[in-house]
Amino acid sequence: MVPIGVLASGRGSNLDAVLDAIDNRYLSKCEVKIVISNRPNAPALDIAKKHYVQTITLDDKGIPKKDWDYDQKTIAALKSHGVLPREGLIVLAGYMRILSEQFVDLYPHRIINVHPALLPSFPGLEAQRQALDHGVKVTGCTVHLVDREVDHGILQTAVAIRDDDSVETLSSRILREEHRILPEAIRLLTEDELRFEGRKVLFKN
Ligand code: GRF
Repeated sequence: MVPIGVLASGRGSNLDAVLDAIDNRYLSKCEVKIVISNRPNAPALDIAKKHYVQTITLDDKGIPKKDWDYDQKTIAALKSHGVLPREGLIVLAGYMRILSEQFVDLYPHRIINVHPALLPSFPGLEAQRQALDHGVKVTGCTVHLVDREVDHGILQTAVAIRDDDSVETLSSRILREEHRILPEAIRLLTEDELRFEGRKVLFKN
């Protein structure tokens, strides 16, 4: 079983999708050992509790968005719950912090994130609004590895933009796809179906 640590800051719908996929055995080779939030009142914490998963809050109030001292506390919590470098998997599910280089170097190919756009288009915050403002006709979501080079895509899905879309309507259609491809990417990684070649993440078979 691959031990997973989830880092979350907010609503937690992607966390819920991952935990549902474990509960219904779509994911059978991994378990979520710990959910860590940087925000004390994140609804993601309640979602973890609903699934009987342990939680830790490491309040980052007043701490810079990228901070190695803070990250070391997160790493200590991950390790103490068995999410060890190389063996474990770290899933960023709406985590509103930036991991330091030292953190990502410690877990090569073992940290993933879900982003609501087709990277490398529209990185950063409010990706759905960026896509609408730009006028593109297709956007989507990406599950990618988190490392120094950023955006090594594992899976991507396209979502068509409609003329009458608002940020809300577009976000909710993208979110449905996020809830599908995040568990799928975790399945591919935890069932050892992927290989890494430079920037590329490829299927083994
Ligand atoms: C999602 O849109 C995800 O792509 C982005 O943050 C949002 C998190 O939503 N990184 P939730 O907390 O999983 O509901």
